[in-house]
Amino acid sequence: MIFGIGTDIIEVARMERHITSNSSLKEKLFTAREQAYSENKATVFQHYAARFAAKEAFFKALGTGYRYGMAFHEIEVVNDDLGKPIVHLHGKVKEFIEKEGIQHIHLSISHVKEMASAFVVLEI
Ligand SMILES: CC(C)(COP(=O)(O)OP(=O)(O)OC[C@H]1O[C@@H](n2cnc3c(N)ncnc32)[C@H](O)[C@@H]1OP(=O)(O)O)[C@@H](O)C(=O)NCCC(=O)NCCS
Repeated sequence: MIFGIGTDIIEVARMERHITSNSSLKEKLFTAREQAYSENKATVFQHYAARFAAKEAFFKALGTGYRYGMAFHEIEVVNDDLGKPIVHLHGKVKEFIEKEGIQHIHLSISHVKEMASAFVVLEI
């Protein structure tokens, strides 16, 4: 059964401005693996923006938004061997998901030069 859905769209240039002008923001938002993945791509900020969109979409699917002490870096996007994005959870977000009985997380990402978007489905 579907618990919730969420979507988000982010301006790539805005993401670039924020994380280049505030050095601690990158660490607050993205895990080491997400940073390594994005920094190794030619279109670095499209990948960061897409990952941020995924985190926002996830919070929308939860229905809570960004609250209860949950942090963006606790929602981690990793890519499998075929490139499919998978969500790994940590900390308070993981606890919250377990409490709600959510079993499956589906994520799809897309990006072009100007915008990045993500769509999340949570299943119980
Ligand atoms: C995966 C694919 C559908 C992506 O579509 P696209 O229009 O090129 O790019 P988009 O911006 O819409 O999507 C990119 C995102 O797709 C996701 N993606 C990549 N591989 C995926 C897969 N196997 N399954 C689901 N999602 C995938 C990733 O999240 C990627 O973003 P990220 O690298 O920041 O995580 C397409 O590239 C494809 O079919 N690739 C497989 C075949 C291939 O690589 N052919 C070229 C070499 S022969």
